[in-house]
Amino acid sequence: MSNHRLNIWLLCASLLCPLSAIAAPPGSDNVQAAIQWAKQQPQARHGKPRGEAKPLIIAHRGASGYVPEHTLAAYALAILQGADYIEPDLVMSKDGHLVARHDNELGLTTDVAQRPEFANRQRTQMIDGVSLTGWFSEDFTLAELKTLRAIERIPQTRPGNARLDGAFEVPTLQEIIDLVKSLQLSQQRTIGLYPETKHPSHFQQLGLAIEKPLVKVLKRNGYHSARSPVYIQSFEVENLKTLSRLTSIRLVQLFSAGQPYDQQLLGSGLTYAQMATPAGLKAISRYAAGVGPEKSYIIPRDGNGNLDAANVTSFVADAHAAGLKVHPYTFRAENSFLPSNLRNGTDPQARGNSAAEIQLFLDAGIDGLFIDQPDIAVRVRQAD
Ligand code: G3P
Ligand code: CA
Repeated sequence: MSNHRLNIWLLCASLLCPLSAIAAPPGSDNVQAAIQWAKQQPQARHGKPRGEAKPLIIAHRGASGYVPEHTLAAYALAILQGADYIEPDLVMSKDGHLVARHDNELGLTTDVAQRPEFANRQRTQMIDGVSLTGWFSEDFTLAELKTLRAIERIPQTRPGNARLDGAFEVPTLQEIIDLVKSLQLSQQRTIGLYPETKHPSHFQQLGLAIEKPLVKVLKRNGYHSARSPVYIQSFEVENLKTLSRLTSIRLVQLFSAGQPYDQQLLGSGLTYAQMATPAGLKAISRYAAGVGPEKSYIIPRDGNGNLDAANVTSFVADAHAAGLKVHPYTFRAENSFLPSNLRNGTDPQARGNSAAEIQLFLDAGIDGLFIDQPDIAVRVRQAD
């Protein structure tokens, strides 16, 4: 067992459950054996989803409220907490491998800035129309990326996570799938993948387009149909349309503010606000199975930063009328992320009433949610 696999094993055991609860299948003496066995199982291979739970609990960047984001440990903990799907954001390496990072700039979530051998890789470039200085995934081979170690993105808010700085690698998509297939065995349930293509136009311009490699890796692992436990998401439009021609896997259109970057490049004038109208949602339903709006599309906070059920919009009803699932992002339990009326005291790190926020969105009819602390959503779902 490699050191990082051992770390994950021990971390999950110490955080959540006894080792017996995450033991390998009978007759297997290590994780590699479990993974090999899992790959041979018909259900894991063909990815037949169970009837999807409601709300679908999507572990945002793994259980990133507890462990540095986009590490195998964060994904493993999310699964053991009961998440239905884990969410890897994906970027490309110089040599065409898919790895899990929220940004192609690596300085915020890895130790690259402390690594003298990579000092000369720092540079400034435009990313999605914004000038950014740092170290970029497309300048590193996979072998180089694997020498980096993950660090906590927001150590002031999550000092407990920062104590795990340096413990874990940057995982590849294949390693994440191997983990999922292994943990499907111990959990005796299907665990879904919810990958996001990050900066698709940027990577396409570099000759490192994400879409075909992503479909290839998923297909190699048995994920290829609308029944596979996979959703692929993007903030851009054209790459989702490309994906809809490459695969039958379900697609999700993400919503932010302003314009999708690819639409800026095309000069189409299409905005997220237009896409959120009934006509816009109907157009999305021609290439996607769902939408992933920022929460304010569903319940905007009032002028005092409070959340109030009286402010629910027609977004969910309009999306459902177009036949789309609705999976808003991102639920986070710390006061600093919560509406004013759901905070607990004034310490930004302290936990507020995230369960109440989730409940309001459930009452608004959502089908799933992205959350940094999947255990909270599991408890809310059980109580609902
Ligand atoms: O993908 C849903 C949500 O994760 C989008 O936001 O920036 O956390 O990837 P982001
Ligand atoms: Ca994401």
